[in-house]
Amino acid sequence: MATITVDGKEIYANDNALLIEELLANGINIPHFCYHPSLGKDGNCRMCMVEIEGKKRPQIACDTPVKDGMIIRTKGENIARVKRQILELELINHPVDCPICDQAGECSLQNYYMDVGLYDSRLDTAKNKKRKHVDLGANVMLDQDRCVLCTRCVRFTKNITKTHELGVVVRNDHSYISTFPGTKLSNPYAMNVIDLCPVGALTSKDFRFHQRVWFLKPEVAICDGCSRGCSLLVDHNKEKYKDDVVYRYRPKFNKNVNGYFICDYGRLSYKKENENRLLNAYIRGMESEFEYAILKIERLLKRYGPKTLFLVSPTLSLEEIYRVRTLAHKLDAAINGFDDNFDEDFKDDMLRQSDKTPNRKTLKFLAINDSKEDLLRDLKGKEFVLLIGRDDIQIIKEMGYDGSIGVMNYRDFKEKEKIDIVIPIVSHTSRQGTFINCDNYMQFSSCEIQKNIQALKVLEFVETILNDGRVTCEDVWEGGLEDEEFLGDIKFTQIKSNSMKIGR
Ligand code: SF4
Ligand code: SF4
Ligand code: FES
Repeated sequence: MATITVDGKEIYANDNALLIEELLANGINIPHFCYHPSLGKDGNCRMCMVEIEGKKRPQIACDTPVKDGMIIRTKGENIARVKRQILELELINHPVDCPICDQAGECSLQNYYMDVGLYDSRLDTAKNKKRKHVDLGANVMLDQDRCVLCTRCVRFTKNITKTHELGVVVRNDHSYISTFPGTKLSNPYAMNVIDLCPVGALTSKDFRFHQRVWFLKPEVAICDGCSRGCSLLVDHNKEKYKDDVVYRYRPKFNKNVNGYFICDYGRLSYKKENENRLLNAYIRGMESEFEYAILKIERLLKRYGPKTLFLVSPTLSLEEIYRVRTLAHKLDAAINGFDDNFDEDFKDDMLRQSDKTPNRKTLKFLAINDSKEDLLRDLKGKEFVLLIGRDDIQIIKEMGYDGSIGVMNYRDFKEKEKIDIVIPIVSHTSRQGTFINCDNYMQFSSCEIQKNIQALKVLEFVETILNDGRVTCEDVWEGGLEDEEFLGDIKFTQIKSNSMKIGR
């Protein structure tokens, strides 16, 4: 470790590390465009200037290694003047169309101008005009005139996806970002350039003009698009007289799981939270009172007891699957988690996995049967099958099952008349829970959006039958889950704030 002095205060920093990284890690605000922790330094924007004692001119913090005893100034009239001049250069040809820019509210250029800019324009010449609304493909829109040429987007396609779709073309103040002739930005991770772009040059075609970002409330969740289980920020808002709507998913940094990125498939999967929701309970295809349908399920469970099979989905949380297993044991019934949602073509060497469910590992750790052969065996002699978190009744139909069926799911589906009881449950972003990913990293999804839909929580459903007062994830952990051997000494309070690796 090195000891350095920043604005008169001593801090400890890693010797030889990049100065910008150490300053940011210590909560010191260093304006920057081209540096990004996933892409490293490039040194092109000059926004990260600091004064270092012993050096004649200000230096860029992103290309300066930490040395013991350094004395650094990040504030003061001289450094503010340098930054103001750089901003003035960046803004010479910028359209300053913030009121109609989707990035307004989360734009580095806007923020830095408010922090250290605030100068009056000295220009009375015409600006260089560049193209607006250039469709780059893959849901990404480019406004060339807002670009500060930091090259983060170019370096992402060069160094991270290695798909090389983007480049800087033409010289000097006529330079702009472009796809190469005949190509489109089309790789499965393309939309990450929207998050990487520090200004409003790259925006999402899907999100543009739907909501001003300062109205959005971010919550932490886990993507349920595949078994990688990427960490997400769920941006949602409830407008007056309307239901709460999820507007977008963004990656949340998690060094163990997804780093700084997510795939476009997972990013756009937020739509299922708003669309095609199951809004009513049904008994043999007829709309039913919600409470009556729950009562009917309880009666069927009582009537069939050991002749019941709970067919749980690997999209349910650890707590939900554990509680359904407890209920199954109590009734001496069977529980199975077979699900054939795999897609080999989806898998790649970055994040995406062929297993399209987020929590199949939980079935293994809770020793729940999950093979087709197990399901065939578990179905024998059963007269009631309750599908939870799924509606794929063809799986059991194809195995020759023709007894009573109950379905608890959040999506609407066809042929409800073929099912005895259908009950809507809350969707992924409306209930908390723990998920175990393909590498055994356990993460907690704390997002619990209250939608104006009558829908049941699986934990509440199980509690109404077991009547033991365990309705929250915390109750479930303290009420027996944390004694499971595979969890070792892990407690609920730990998993709530960290992703942790379990098992081998
Ligand atoms: S489009 Fe955005 S990320 Fe790409 S170079 Fe311009 S400012 Fe940087
Ligand atoms: S890699 Fe999988 S978990 Fe991650 S964002 Fe894509 S679909 Fe979601
Ligand atoms: S962040 Fe240092 S030069 Fe751009």
